[in-house]
Amino acid sequence: MKPTKGIVLAGGSGSRLYPLSTICSKQLQPIYDKPLIYYPLATLMLGGIRDILLITTPHDMPLFQKLLGDGSQWGISLKYAIQTAPRGLAEAFIIGEEFINNNQVCLILGDNVFYGKLDFLRNALEKNIGGTIFGYQVTDPERYGVVEFGENGEVLSIEEKPKLPKSQYAIPGLYVFSSDVVNIAKNVQPSPRGELEITDIHNAYLQQNTLQVEIMGRGIAWLDTGTPESLLEAGTFIHAIEKRQGMKIACLEEIAFLMKYINEEELMRHIISLPNSSYRQYCEKIMTLQ
Ligand code: G1P
Repeated sequence: MKPTKGIVLAGGSGSRLYPLSTICSKQLQPIYDKPLIYYPLATLMLGGIRDILLITTPHDMPLFQKLLGDGSQWGISLKYAIQTAPRGLAEAFIIGEEFINNNQVCLILGDNVFYGKLDFLRNALEKNIGGTIFGYQVTDPERYGVVEFGENGEVLSIEEKPKLPKSQYAIPGLYVFSSDVVNIAKNVQPSPRGELEITDIHNAYLQQNTLQVEIMGRGIAWLDTGTPESLLEAGTFIHAIEKRQGMKIACLEEIAFLMKYINEEELMRHIISLPNSSYRQYCEKIMTLQ
C-alpha cells in the first residue's frame, strides 16, 4: 500500500450537544459501548493506516491522551497536535505539515462513523493521485458539502452547505489527498464564517483535474453524530448489530489483532491492563472468534 499518514480531526466546540459537551468534547461521548473517537480510528486502522495524528483542542488533549495513549497497545503510532480555535477543517493540513511530510494523507473527522465493508477506502488509498473524496446519498444534503455530477458522472461543482443543493450526494468527512494538500491549504482564504473550508481544497484539486469523487454505496452506513438525537440513533444502530452478531464494531484491540498490528502475546499483555468489564471479556474472546 502507498505509505499514507492518517489525521483525525477532533476539534470544535460541540456546542450543539450542550450540556453534554461542557465536560468533554463530542468525540469523547459514548456511541453505545465505546467513545465516538474509536470509530474513526477503527476506520483508519482497517484502511491499513498506522501512523496517525490526532488534532484536538487544548482542553481535550489530555483526555484523549488518557484514553488512547501512544497507540502502541494497538500496534499503531498516535501523535497529538492542537487546533487552538475552530478555524476550519482545512487547517488540519497546515497543523499537520511536518507530520505529513512527503506522504499521502487521509483525513477523517472525529465525529464520522462508517460501518460496512471498507474496501472503498483501501482502493482510494491505492489509486489516489491528487484528491479522492466520496459521495453518499442522503435526504438532507444541505447540511453537508455537496457534489454535483454531470450526465457522464463527471464532477460539475462542489458546494459547502448550499441552501439549494444541486444533488442528494453529501461528502462524508473522509478524504484522501496527495502531500501537496499542505500548500493548497496554505492558500485557502477564510470563508464568511471565518473557517478554512475543506470544500476549497476539493475545488483546488477539481481545477487541477485531479479530483476523484467515488460513490460510497448504500451498503455502507455513514452516521452523523452532531446532535443528541443523532448520537442516540448511532448508539442504537451499533447496539442492534453488536447484539445480533455477538461481535463488536470498532473494537480497536480486535482490529489490531486481525490486521496483525499486534500478535497474540501483545494482545494478552494489553488485556491484563484492562479493568474487569464486558469490553475486557470481549477482548479475551478475540482469539477464539476468528
Ligand atoms: C464538515 C464539512 C462538510 C462535510 C461534513 C461531513 O461539515 O465542512 O463539507 O460534508 O463535515 O461530516 P461540518 O462538520 O463543519 O458541519
